[in-house]
Amino acid sequence: MNGLFVTFEGPDGSGKSTQIEKLAGYLEKKKLPYLWTHEPGGTAISNKIRTLLLDPDHQEMESETEILLYAASRAQHVREKIMPALEQGKIVLCDRFADASIAYQGYGLGQNVEKVREINHFATGGLVPDRSYFLDLSPEAGRQRMLNRSELDRIEQKQLAYHERVRRAFRLLYEENRKRICLLNGEEEKETLFSKIQSDFTQLWIRHQKESEV
Ligand code: TMP
Repeated sequence: MNGLFVTFEGPDGSGKSTQIEKLAGYLEKKKLPYLWTHEPGGTAISNKIRTLLLDPDHQEMESETEILLYAASRAQHVREKIMPALEQGKIVLCDRFADASIAYQGYGLGQNVEKVREINHFATGGLVPDRSYFLDLSPEAGRQRMLNRSELDRIEQKQLAYHERVRRAFRLLYEENRKRICLLNGEEEKETLFSKIQSDFTQLWIRHQKESEV
């Protein structure tokens, strides 16, 4: 597997999509082969699961159902889209991945975090990103940005206390995975944030190229 797997994580409204778009534009300019994808979703089956998960009418959804649906969507996405792209040597840019399930379903819903990890390990076949950019932002600021944008989905509608648990979980994940996760302040200007991501990514790419040569 020769590609590079890069994920973006952070609370709703943290500006992930803008940063992925900028990085994709940069790769385009450099003529580097990449795949830009997102979770939940990324394949026909995963997109159907996404609709089930985010429908605001599904308030009765049990936590166990939610954990398994995110994992099912991911299992299909990994095998149908992410792994083949990595095998072709592409840079995969993924808007959210398994860290989101640990944070949102594990800590956010107050579920057994180890169990959520196990289920996700099964779903991903043990695939771990090479780099994860975590855009940190307070739930209040994120909510404000989301309200200016669109109707809130079922997950976004949850209480601020839930989103505060999610934020703490992402910070904890960062503490546990400092080599892989790059923590960024989502309050910073888009351009400032992107120059940090671009510089980190460039170093990562150079290192990856060297390692692939040996
Ligand atoms: P999106 O708005 O970034 O497309 O994500 C949809 C929602 O799904 C967002 O509120 C975060 C949530 N989510 C989880 O709760 N668990 C997960 O594993 C993923 C990937 C997303």
